[in-house]
Amino acid sequence: MGEWTGFRSSQLRVFKNGRKTDYKPSMKLLTYNLKIKLTGLACLSILLYLLIVRFDLEHDDVVLIKDLKVCKTNMATEAIVRVENSKAFLVSAYLDERFSRMLRIISIVDRASRLKFYCHFCNGSRVTSAKAKVEVQSNHFNFPYGSANILCQVPGEAGVVSSVSVSTEQKSYPRTPFLPIRSIKKVGGRAAYLRNFTVCISTLFGNYSNVLQFMQSLEMYRILGAQKVLIYKSDCSSLIQKVLDYYTAEGMVEVIAWNIHHHLNVSKSWKPSIDPGDLHYYGQVAALNDCVYRNMATSRYVVLNDIDEVVVPVLHRNWIDMMHYLSLGHMGVESFLFENNVFRHRIVGDDGKFDLWPHVPGVNILRHVHREPLKLLTFNARKMIVNPRAVVWTSVHMVWEQMGATLLVPASVARLQHCRSDDDLLVQDSELIRDTNLWKFSTALIRNVNQISSRILESYPANK
Ligand SMILES: *[C@@H]1O[C@H](CO)[C@@H](O)[C@H](O)[C@H]1NC(C)=O
Ligand SMILES: *[C@@H]1O[C@H](CO)[C@@H](O)[C@H](O)[C@H]1NC(C)=O
Ligand SMILES: *[C@@H]1O[C@H](CO)[C@@H](O)[C@H](O)[C@H]1NC(C)=O
Ligand SMILES: *[C@@H]1O[C@H](CO)[C@@H](O)[C@H](O)[C@H]1NC(C)=O
Repeated sequence: MGEWTGFRSSQLRVFKNGRKTDYKPSMKLLTYNLKIKLTGLACLSILLYLLIVRFDLEHDDVVLIKDLKVCKTNMATEAIVRVENSKAFLVSAYLDERFSRMLRIISIVDRASRLKFYCHFCNGSRVTSAKAKVEVQSNHFNFPYGSANILCQVPGEAGVVSSVSVSTEQKSYPRTPFLPIRSIKKVGGRAAYLRNFTVCISTLFGNYSNVLQFMQSLEMYRILGAQKVLIYKSDCSSLIQKVLDYYTAEGMVEVIAWNIHHHLNVSKSWKPSIDPGDLHYYGQVAALNDCVYRNMATSRYVVLNDIDEVVVPVLHRNWIDMMHYLSLGHMGVESFLFENNVFRHRIVGDDGKFDLWPHVPGVNILRHVHREPLKLLTFNARKMIVNPRAVVWTSVHMVWEQMGATLLVPASVARLQHCRSDDDLLVQDSELIRDTNLWKFSTALIRNVNQISSRILESYPANK
């Protein structure tokens, strides 16, 4: 290697591979001098930076222990709460023991804001504070607000913590309501999960009133093996509310009052150019992630789809056999993606055979058996069944961050049946594919819907 021997001479001698060579003064020398100065400057800056930032860090990391009465009296009463003096909202808090003692708060934040937060943990009336880290998720679809994780390591000094609040200043008295801290750890160690399948419906909105399809979807989930359906509800019609009340009392449905529209002007679309607003599609991403975390301790699988969608097995008669089959053949796969197939509800294909509930408003999925072919060379959406414990962060059509692999489930095993208005406008009705696979569940579905509709909708009696 070359080696510098002098600086002052107009000629610079260097040894190159052991041989002396002469160099004319050149830019190289200037560059070298400059380099020394710059290095000095850099060292000084790093020193200064370390002094300031370390001091700041230490200052920020200080764990304060205060005696407050707020832990019990200021608990959150709504699903979404605003962090005082900020453009940030908290959804729920989970002790994520997959990453040591990390507290994960699923949040919605203004991406352009200065995001600096502190967590305040309660143990009885003792509050311990710690600096938070914010991870704004990249699946924000270019809306000003996006979902995020506010992450805090729970300090050892905090002990066993039961609730958490967030503030923008370390010393400020946490006026943001406290969220209960939920565990993601299964109780009962090696015992089986409380449920095999939980369905997450994000979100009901805009005076949703499609009663028949709503009942049919819920009954299909039940027939296929769902033991609980979580519904993030912003808004629905009064008849749907009656149906929801019935299913909630029965135990099949749990409604989460998704009050995002009280805080933000949410978009009704997935893209700002279609419907501008503060946040993507009613805050769907935050709702989905909340649902995944909420069920980590209790459900073997979580099914993520909309209320007009059903994962319909082709080879099997229920989800547990289907998942058993898929898992056996694919070790290490934790998320299973099902191909979205649009069944046009404009096209009737049953010759009246299933026209059984003319008095119940809404779409009858048994009558619509013509699906659009998949689009060539373009994105065809998928929806998912996941092992929630493998998920770190999910998006709508794929898991964003997970511990495990993904399988694109072949349509020969199952399809996501999505009964709705025309989607691919380039497809003529004559090009639709007739597909009556759903009918193999018709006997069970008719029986269940008859039962439910006669119980709930006295004013809308079933035909039989
Ligand atoms: C506070 O933490 C201690 C452990 O440090 C625990 O024994 C105690 O039960 C906790 N109190 C409450 C109210 O959570
Ligand atoms: C889940 O499915 C298994 C079959 O794989 C069954 O033995 C078990 O009872 C089911 N669990 C629940 C809670 O239904
Ligand atoms: C909601 O939908 C129902 C059924 O379509 C309709 O009767 C009702 O007027 C709607 N309510 C509002 C506030 O739009
Ligand atoms: C929604 O936007 C309107 C008009 O810009 C504004 O007046 C209103 O306060 C906003 N609502 C919320 C909840 O942000």
